[in-house]
Amino acid sequence: MNTRHLTSFDRWIDSAQRALETVAGDPPAVRRNPAASQPDIVLDDAERRHAAGLMRINHVGEVCAQALYVGQASVARDARTREHLLHAAQEETDHLAWCADRLRELDSRPSLLNPVWYAGAYAIGLAAGLRGDGWNLGFVVETERQVEAHIDEHLESLPPADVRSRAILEIMKDDEARHADTAEAAGARRLPMPIPQLMAAASKVMKTVAYRI
Ligand SMILES: [Fe+2]
Ligand SMILES: [Fe+2]
Repeated sequence: MNTRHLTSFDRWIDSAQRALETVAGDPPAVRRNPAASQPDIVLDDAERRHAAGLMRINHVGEVCAQALYVGQASVARDARTREHLLHAAQEETDHLAWCADRLRELDSRPSLLNPVWYAGAYAIGLAAGLRGDGWNLGFVVETERQVEAHIDEHLESLPPADVRSRAILEIMKDDEARHADTAEAAGARRLPMPIPQLMAAASKVMKTVAYRI
C-alpha cells in the first residue's frame, strides 16, 4: 500500500478543505438516497415547513458530525483511530447529502449558521482529540447515541405523509447506532459527567435555532 507520512501542515490543509466542502460545497453521497424509492406525497404548507425545520436540524447535525470527526482526526495519536474517525466522516457525508436533497425537495435551505456550527463542533472535536484516543472514541459513542435519540424524536414528529424524510432518517439511525457500536468496540472511554449533559445542552440550543435559521 502506498502510504505517506502526513505532516501537521498537510493535516491542517486537509481539515480546511473538508470544512469548505461541508459548509460551502455540496459533497455527493456514495450510497443511493433512501428517499428515492418512496413516493413524493404533497404536503400542505404547515407540514412542509415543519418537515423542513426538522430536516434542517438533521442537516446541521451532520455538519457538526463532519466537523467533530475531522477535528478529532486531525489530532488523533493512533493511525487506526484516525482512520476510524475519517471512515465515520465519510458515511456522515451520505447523510449530509441526503438531508440537503430533502431540504431542496421541501423548497427549503440548510441553516445559514452552518459556518458557526462547524467552527464550534470542530473546536469541541479538537479539545476531545487532544485528551487522547480513548476520549476521542468515547466522544464518538456519546455523539452518535444522542443523534440516534433525536432521530427517534423526529421520526415521531414528522408529518405522517412525509415518507421520503422518514426513509432517510431510518437509514441514518441504523448507521449512527453502528458508528457508536464500532467506536465502543474500538476501546471508547465512558465520558465522565458533566460532559454528556453539556453536549446534550449544546445540541438543544442548536436544535432550537436550526429549526428556524
Ligand atoms: Fe450521521
Ligand atoms: Fe454517525
